[in-house]
Amino acid sequence: KKLAAQPENSKTAQLAEHTADATGERMNTNTGLNINDDQNSLKAGDRGPTLLEDFILREKITHFDHERIPERVVHARGSGAHGVFKVYESLSSVTKAKFLNDIERETPVFVRFSTVAGSRGSTDLARDVRGFAVRFYTQEGNFDLVGNNMPVFFIQDALKFPDLIHAVKPEPDNEIPQAASAHDTFWDFISLMPESAHMVMWAMSDRALPRSLRMMEGFGVHTFRLIDEAGKASFVKFHWKPLLGVHSVAWDEAQNISGKDPDFHRRDLWDAIESGAFPEWELGLQIIPEEDEFKFDFDLLDPTKLVPEELVPVQRVGKMTLNRNPDNFFAETEQIAFHLGHIVPGIDFSNDPLLQGRLFSYTDTQLTRLGGPNFQEIPINRPIVPVHNNQRDGFMRQTINKGKTSYSPNSLGNNDPQQVKEADGGFVSYQERIEARKLRRRNKSFFDHFSQARLFFNSQSDPEKNHIVDALTFELGKVKTVAIRQRMLGILEQIDKGLATQVAFGLGLHLPAKADLPANQSIPADGD
Ligand code: HEM
Repeated sequence: KKLAAQPENSKTAQLAEHTADATGERMNTNTGLNINDDQNSLKAGDRGPTLLEDFILREKITHFDHERIPERVVHARGSGAHGVFKVYESLSSVTKAKFLNDIERETPVFVRFSTVAGSRGSTDLARDVRGFAVRFYTQEGNFDLVGNNMPVFFIQDALKFPDLIHAVKPEPDNEIPQAASAHDTFWDFISLMPESAHMVMWAMSDRALPRSLRMMEGFGVHTFRLIDEAGKASFVKFHWKPLLGVHSVAWDEAQNISGKDPDFHRRDLWDAIESGAFPEWELGLQIIPEEDEFKFDFDLLDPTKLVPEELVPVQRVGKMTLNRNPDNFFAETEQIAFHLGHIVPGIDFSNDPLLQGRLFSYTDTQLTRLGGPNFQEIPINRPIVPVHNNQRDGFMRQTINKGKTSYSPNSLGNNDPQQVKEADGGFVSYQERIEARKLRRRNKSFFDHFSQARLFFNSQSDPEKNHIVDALTFELGKVKTVAIRQRMLGILEQIDKGLATQVAFGLGLHLPAKADLPANQSIPADGD
């Protein structure tokens, strides 16, 4: 018996128009012709060759032949659910985003959780970062908060992302290992990239083995901006706090579960929602006044740093409830196209160089993954507000745009979308003042790679610290090249000598006398 309610909201209603239920219906072809035999192909004689004429056979097999689309280049393995979000109090003092201003408004959401490295069919309980992507279907358009379950990232610049992913994915000659960090290419890259030290500590901690998707925190990672009605900006870090608390499994449990039920997280999320135990998260904000931008001993634009909650508390401002499973995995979970460039008035970007690169990547990859420029018309991607612009045509165009004109300005007027002014809710980019030279380098404020890695390690309880030591020993123990193990010990030594000593002992190695940082990672002499 289905216990769960199937709550209606504007997005559910919109999707319902696109659903199909074949129960009790006759089977027919894509052109509507009733079929009387779907099991026997048309043959010349009882045993004879199948005839090319058989259009029923050709149509069925042709469609099947094209059922697969490319999996996501990262975050291929995922699970999704529908839900709603409601703000507790109006946040109009910091943002003009309407869905954060109106306590009466219930905003539909779709969430997709994922692992990063594994392929679509890989196990849920790999040691990995988890994606935590939330789409808000607001009255002002889609807002996507495309985050992870860890508050920092491996690299500071988008230009390094393809390298990071090439290193973490299975090795190119033998496609091994499928979904784990225990291999030479990953640790080769990490040991040459000191800025990854902080994130590596999170990835080797219990946070990389969630007990359930319902028990994970989420983080926007980058610093974003909120903009109020008067145009005043504040910096913001986004958080999701699970009301079930944060829980993990131990590594040997993870391995057991992976063997017995690779769909463990997916099944847990599905079953919880089916049985009415709707998972909930509170949205948390760390708000930093613009004038405090340089008050910290790290750079707010550096995605390898978090803002300690002791310095800026997380305010819990609203609640998200996941209350409906998708009707169709492919149509919804697989075809959703998240992008942190999908924002609404009242929210804006910062100059974080990782964020800036991501703004390019998502639409670009989706053009291939979802087959051309019309993927925003796919039901799960449509905003709940109608779309009017002069974009036309292309593969798989669904909308039948009326009128003769598809350009602006025009004087024929029969199909000219009106420009909306800022005062009417039109989006205007934040007018940040920028005076700059063109440079290919980082500010010195991006070069403290170890303080927060140490802070994280020291924040762990003794059993949690032991898990980190065990994880590093296990993972590095799989690395064949001794020089890579040695170089990684040099990095660990700079985080915590005791940690490095224990891992070295586990690996049967000595700590290096002096850690040499790779030349291109050292702090520039002139300070910028
Ligand atoms: C997915 C690129 C950093 C979170 C993806 C995808 C690409 C990508 C190409 C696949 C999208 C698709 O096929 O629909 C990048 C680049 C990055 C970067 C170039 C850095 C320069 C990050 C960071 C986070 C993140 C820092 C977390 C804050 C996600 C999530 C997904 C994703 C959650 C899965 C979205 C889904 O569930 O469909 N990323 N990414 N990425 N990325 Fe990133």
